[in-house]
Amino acid sequence: MPLELFHHLVTLLLLLVAADRGLAATVGSDDGWQFAYNGFAGTNLTLDGVAKVTPNGLLMLTNGTIQQKGHAFHPFRAARSFYTTFVLAIFGQYIDLSSPGMAFFITTSKEVLSTALPGQYMGLLNATNNTDREAHIFAVQLDTLHNSECHDLNGNHVGVDLDSMVSRDSADAGYNDDATGRFHNLSLISRKAMQVWVDYYASATEIAVTMAPLGIDKPKKPLLRTTMDLSTVVQDMAYVGFSSATGALFTRHFVVGWSFALDRLAPMLNILSLHALPPIGPKSRSKVLQIVLPIASSTTVLSMGIIVYILVRRHLRYAEVHEDWEKAFGPHRFSYKDLFQATKGFSQKNLLGAGGFGSVYKGVLRKSHMEVAVKRLSHESRQGMKEFITEVASMRSLRHRNLVPLLGYSRRKGEFLLVYVYMPNGSLDKYLYVRSKMSEITT
Ligand SMILES: *[C@@H]1O[C@H](CO)[C@@H](O)[C@H](O)[C@H]1NC(C)=O
Ligand SMILES: *[C@@H]1O[C@H](CO)[C@@H](O)[C@H](O)[C@H]1NC(C)=O
Ligand SMILES: *[C@@H]1O[C@H](CO)[C@@H](O)[C@H](O)[C@H]1NC(C)=O
Ligand SMILES: *[C@@H]1O[C@H](CO)[C@@H](O)[C@H](O)[C@H]1NC(C)=O
Ligand SMILES: *[C@@H]1O[C@H](CO)[C@@H](O)[C@H](O)[C@H]1NC(C)=O
Repeated sequence: MPLELFHHLVTLLLLLVAADRGLAATVGSDDGWQFAYNGFAGTNLTLDGVAKVTPNGLLMLTNGTIQQKGHAFHPFRAARSFYTTFVLAIFGQYIDLSSPGMAFFITTSKEVLSTALPGQYMGLLNATNNTDREAHIFAVQLDTLHNSECHDLNGNHVGVDLDSMVSRDSADAGYNDDATGRFHNLSLISRKAMQVWVDYYASATEIAVTMAPLGIDKPKKPLLRTTMDLSTVVQDMAYVGFSSATGALFTRHFVVGWSFALDRLAPMLNILSLHALPPIGPKSRSKVLQIVLPIASSTTVLSMGIIVYILVRRHLRYAEVHEDWEKAFGPHRFSYKDLFQATKGFSQKNLLGAGGFGSVYKGVLRKSHMEVAVKRLSHESRQGMKEFITEVASMRSLRHRNLVPLLGYSRRKGEFLLVYVYMPNGSLDKYLYVRSKMSEITT
């Protein structure tokens, strides 16, 4: 039963992963040289501010409450090269509005941390530059605020700092794809887990920071690599850990896993055994968009509806019927629209009179300001059609003093319209009974 076997294998695998998770949550070795936390439950980190380890083993540096800071750190062991990697995720209130970021740090003084401020200072310092010469602090900031006082690059960058919130070097958050060599931006506040590597080469006094989305191997090309002498902070009496702070927006900063080593590469994190982040949830938009977007879209839909309605109505109102035989009379054809407008929509006021074959309206042509009488033969009856064709056909050939001159015609479904020169003194009969007189002449 290959299928059953496969099923058992999958179950076994899931059990192993689950067991591994439990182990990772409680263990996390710290032999003074290196440690690896695939979860933070049971670890011996010093926590302060609002930082805490969640029941499912995530290190939550800030819990959302505004204007707070949180730290989690370890004593640092020796003045050497170090290598560290961590997985982080920043859950901002809105996916498109920045809230302060977080930082990896090494400092020689817990006092720097306790007197540090939230907001743009990320819980690292209490002023742009640290003027306290005794205490030193190094930080890799994952900055999601564009602060001009700190000479920030933009609202989504990575910077390396020493005793100042003004970065020595910084770069857009993102990574270089090894395969294509292309640079990809990463949004720090996207709520997605991403991995960061920080390598310090003591002999070369060089620092390199690399990042990638979780699940992608460490890119060969670092995001930034710069000369930086950390001998003032990389000491026996120092602390290494994370800091983050909230500003005016509800933000949560998570560290999902962390490994660290002196003089050798940091242990690999077990991606499979990392604890799940809170659900990303609906990509909540900024408040402005939340209000503006529905209004804008409903307005658009409404106005489009109105435009369509107007166009359809217009089309129906002015729709005309054309037939081949009319081609010869082309110049004499009036558009229904013109006649409609000339007679003010065949208004009762313009009605001169009505008779057997239809109604006659007085009108003024808009372009020529010429006064006309428009006869409207209302039914598409055989009789109406016949009269209509006769009259139209006679249009050019007939001129008679007893006749009211016919200027042209118009047609649309169910309606024939004949346009005459308006004669103030001419009796209505002349308009209404043109046909009979015409028959007299032709016969
Ligand atoms: C945790 O750390 C504190 C000081 O940082 C130390 O006194 C204590 O022994 C540690 N506990 C364990 C279980 O490692
Ligand atoms: C965050 O933690 C602080 C201190 O522990 C607490 O007062 C506050 O209510 C917490 N906020 C949330 C949103 O849980
Ligand atoms: C700012 O931090 C330094 C330590 O880095 C401390 O000496 C100083 O008193 C702090 N200032 C305030 C106003 O908290
Ligand atoms: C902080 O130091 C940087 C150089 O490291 C300098 O450019 C900046 O002007 C200083 N800012 C303040 C407020 O002193
Ligand atoms: C990355 O983002 C920065 C700033 O947001 C922008 O200037 C740059 O063009 C982006 N690069 C890519 C490849 O999208």
